[in-house]
Order: sequence, then C-alpha cells, then structure tokens
Amino acid sequence: MKSDPKKLRSAANAAVDARVQSGMIVGLGTGSTASWAVRRIGELLSSGALENVRGIPTSETTARLAQEVGIPLLSLAEARPEITIDGADEIDPNLALIKGRGGALLREKIVAAASGTLIVVADDSKLVDALGRDFLPVEVEPFGWESTLEALASLGCEPERRLIDGDSKNPFLTDGGHYTVDCTFPSIADPAGLEAEIRCIPGALECGLFVGLAQTAFVASDDETVVMQA
Ligand code: A5P
Repeated sequence: MKSDPKKLRSAANAAVDARVQSGMIVGLGTGSTASWAVRRIGELLSSGALENVRGIPTSETTARLAQEVGIPLLSLAEARPEITIDGADEIDPNLALIKGRGGALLREKIVAAASGTLIVVADDSKLVDALGRDFLPVEVEPFGWESTLEALASLGCEPERRLIDGDSKNPFLTDGGHYTVDCTFPSIADPAGLEAEIRCIPGALECGLFVGLAQTAFVASDDETVVMQA
C-alpha cells in the first residue's frame, strides 16, 4: 500500500492539535509527514492559537521549512525537546520503528533520544506485523565504508550504498556528511538485538531501528486517525 498525502497530513495535524501546547520546545522530524506537522505548528503560531513554541530540527531541510513557516529554532546546545513529532517508514505493534529512508536517521535518533516523548505520525500503509518489510537504512562513516559494508553483510543482509541517480561517484550524503547504506534483511525477528549488533560495527554510526523510543503513534486511515500507545 502506498502512502496517501491526505492521510499523512491528517495524522500530523491530529498529533499537533492534541499534543503541542504554548511554550513547548518541540523536536521537529524530517520527511513528508513530519513536514505537515511543522506546517501545522507554523499555522497555529501565526493564527495565535499557539504562542512561544520553539523547534529543534532533525535536518537542514526541516530547519529551512520551520524558518519559512515562522517557528523559532533552538539547538540541543540550548535546550531539550519536551516532545518530538516525526514520521516513520514502518511501525510494528509495539511501536518499534524503521526510519531513515528519507536520509536523516542519525539526527532524528539524537533528537528523539534527547526528547521526553517521541510521537510518530503516519498513515496505515506504514503499519507492519514485523519490521523488515523493506530495507533498513544505516548511516555509515565514509572512511572505510567498504569494510563496514562487509561487516553489515555478515549480519545476513544485502547492503547497498545509497547513490544519487545510481551514480557510484555521487553517493547520497547526509547532513552530517555520512553515507547511507540500505540493508535488505530476509526478516527482522529481533529489532533490539539487531540494533545492538549493528552498533558493534565501528563504521556504522546509527541504524534506522528505533526500539523503545516511540510512546505514541497517530495513524490515519481513510475514516479516522487512531492513537496507538506503546
Ligand atoms: C527521514 O530520515 C525518515 O526517517 C522519515 O521520517 C521517514 O522516512 C518517513 O518519511 P515520510 O513521512 O516522507 O514517509
């Protein structure tokens, strides 16, 4: 099932309306769904329904959008977000996630971990019985990436360095200047165990498994937005 932009927008609006209050510092996620949440916060600030909300962005793209819609920004040097609102690529029944297909997973994980609460916004196409329906992104240090790729393959996946337009001379670079390696596993039976194994590979900076971080998900279907709790 493909994501539906209308549903993504409904989920983002519902999460912002229910959970963002005046005076809050909010972690601002990255991706098409999170961008609707950023726009909604901007709308509510400009209408006066919200006051003094500040954002901590998870990417340069989100920082630009937040500035465009009038959300003042802070960094983690200045504050911690009370809540973070972000999208996801896959959501399992325990609210373990795969994130990072949009290429911002390291900063997303840093902000989510620094935040009191991670709220996920998505549509029902992102719900899975078990993670691993599609590839798992891993953010990788460019130095020695070839050996990091081998180490990832030894965990039982097919790793592929993300490229722009399939050009091996033009790898996709994250905001931090790192590569992204997309790892296709036959299945992911133990997300926390796999996350721990990937963390043991020195050049693998972070992976897109977010286990135990999300407390709540706003998931839109055709008729309604359902609130799921971990
Ligand atoms: C960005 O790195 C990702 O983690 C996104 O949050 C995730 O891919 C969801 O993106 P969409 O909302 O665009 O589907």
